[in-house]
Amino acid sequence: KNIVILISGGGSNMAAIVRTAQQQDWAGRHGIRVAAVLSNKADAKGLALAREQGIATQVLDHKAYPSREAFDTALAQAIDAYEPSLVVLAGFMRILTPGFVDHFAGRLVNIHPSLLPAFTGLHTHQRAIDAGCRFAGCTVHEVTAELDVGPILDQAVVPVLPGDTADALAARVLTQEHLIYPRAVLAHLLANR
Ligand code: GRF
Repeated sequence: KNIVILISGGGSNMAAIVRTAQQQDWAGRHGIRVAAVLSNKADAKGLALAREQGIATQVLDHKAYPSREAFDTALAQAIDAYEPSLVVLAGFMRILTPGFVDHFAGRLVNIHPSLLPAFTGLHTHQRAIDAGCRFAGCTVHEVTAELDVGPILDQAVVPVLPGDTADALAARVLTQEHLIYPRAVLAHLLANR
């Protein structure tokens, strides 16, 4: 069973999944492997880490395509080459077209840095602080055509502390992301054997 992970930046969630897969021997125990890491940004730092781990990487620059649909079609074709059982969005900063989402329906997941359904969209940590939230967190969910909505697969909660900056809260949430995402990815693949 192949996983394809899509990133746009640091790829810390991708790294956590790769590391967990190695530590828990997903390949030997479940026949599950990260087959490729794809990015829309050539300078995504996560690409170097993936390459170091011997994982195939590919960059598709969305600026090289005439439309969102054209990019998503090319992206879907690149992904299909790896015959994925699961496509994992990990800090992938693109809104995907309904056609792309339909093509991967049931095998497309994302992690969002808030306790959905609260705070869909961007700047989730600052918004939680500004709203006076006592708690924040992250959510792993199935991806549907509507942004940051979709069946919730797992969540983790962290306290918002007095004087928290968005960066401090983001770091606290990211630690939890790195715990729940690998667990949710494995659970999804084992449930859909
Ligand atoms: C994280 O906040 C994650 O929740 C969101 O993108 C940010 C960076 O993730 N999806 P990563 O370090 O690139 O995995």
